[in-house]
Amino acid sequence: MDFHVSPGGRIAGTCRVPGDKSISHRAVMLAALADGESRFEGFLAGADTLATAAAFRAMGVAIDGPRDGVLTVRGVGLHGLKPPPGPLDMGNAGTGMRLLAGLMAGQRFGVTLVGDESLSRRPMRRVIGPLRQMGADISAAEGDTPPLALSPVESLHGIDYALPMASAQVKSCLLLAGLYAAGRTCVTEPAPTRDHTERMLSAFGRAVSRDGARVCVEGGAAPLKAASFAIPGDISSAAFPLVAALIADGGEALIENVGINPTRTGILDILRAMGADIALLNPREAGAEPVADLRVRASALRGIAVPPELVPLAIDEFPAIAVAAACATGETLITGAEELRVKESDRIAAIANGLAALGIAVGVLPDGLRIQGGQFRGGVVESHGDHRIAMAFSLAALRADGPVQIRDCVNVGTSFPGYVDLMRGLGLGIRAS
Ligand code: S3P
Repeated sequence: MDFHVSPGGRIAGTCRVPGDKSISHRAVMLAALADGESRFEGFLAGADTLATAAAFRAMGVAIDGPRDGVLTVRGVGLHGLKPPPGPLDMGNAGTGMRLLAGLMAGQRFGVTLVGDESLSRRPMRRVIGPLRQMGADISAAEGDTPPLALSPVESLHGIDYALPMASAQVKSCLLLAGLYAAGRTCVTEPAPTRDHTERMLSAFGRAVSRDGARVCVEGGAAPLKAASFAIPGDISSAAFPLVAALIADGGEALIENVGINPTRTGILDILRAMGADIALLNPREAGAEPVADLRVRASALRGIAVPPELVPLAIDEFPAIAVAAACATGETLITGAEELRVKESDRIAAIANGLAALGIAVGVLPDGLRIQGGQFRGGVVESHGDHRIAMAFSLAALRADGPVQIRDCVNVGTSFPGYVDLMRGLGLGIRAS
């Protein structure tokens, strides 16, 4: 399935993006292991999070929905999962696989985690190493890539682990394994990363302590208590209508009910430093997470050197930021972003190839990109099966002098079901075929 996008167009209107993917994955996992029934509004009905729900159904958890965004999970308790009849297919989802690896390490049965072609290329050593230190029996395919095979062990024990890279997935994997480990499990991060696991563990009644960059969870038998809350719109999905409104001639959009957890708002800081007019309206709390409506107006953007400390706080937004940078005057420099190489695609390469295909001068660095603002021309972009590359480049058409085609866009459904309709509603001339 390709996207075909007509050049130009105005962006105007009000929208709501689907629920947060990171929070939706974690909500299913913790609810499945809690005592009692949990209910979530705004659950993301994307392929990634549905794969996580399917994995728990295969382990005997009764899950209803999502219906109209509502998912109900009847938890089986920390030790109530049943052996699944076959491998658990996590689809395209690195979060699903890495977090589940942590939880599965502590079960009394073996399990195999598999994924699609993209996930099967992604590095798992980052979780295999520390899980083995905790006593887990875990093996992978050549090069420490999926499938992951976990066998039951007598016991896990807590470790005190310094993360070699800023990764919320690895941090979360270890904290979740820590629920099953004897003693404390502590993780020290080299830079702050999204803290949804910590917030949600607290919401399910399990205290998590933080001391600077070190976060700890106590193992042991204390049960998780069911929790019900509304999941906010995903700021990583809001990034697309947001950048659309910013770069479209006369654009203006109100994106309602977006999660603005400070570990996720790097994109707002980066775009504001580039001159973006973004206002946070009606700030409030939903569940354990802060939420606001984002009002965005078309702005004259200028290139900046992105402060490296903002990179982990905007890690999924660089495809959209790169399109904004191409519309800015001057150069934007992104460094310290080597983690982009191991996302759903090598995003440094995918962004560089896409920008170049549309006539933008771009330099590739080992850990980032140098993007010279310019004029998009029409052309064909390869998404490499990466949902965020596909969505980001669909926005380039707003400023292009000819039609833009993006190839292989089916994975947009992993994180943003309804993307085409939502963007058409705002004024983007996009169709899928
Ligand atoms: C995520 C963490 C990030 C992010 C991913 C979701 C999470 O990955 O890119 O989309 O939900 O914990 P890393 O931990 O690999 O940085």
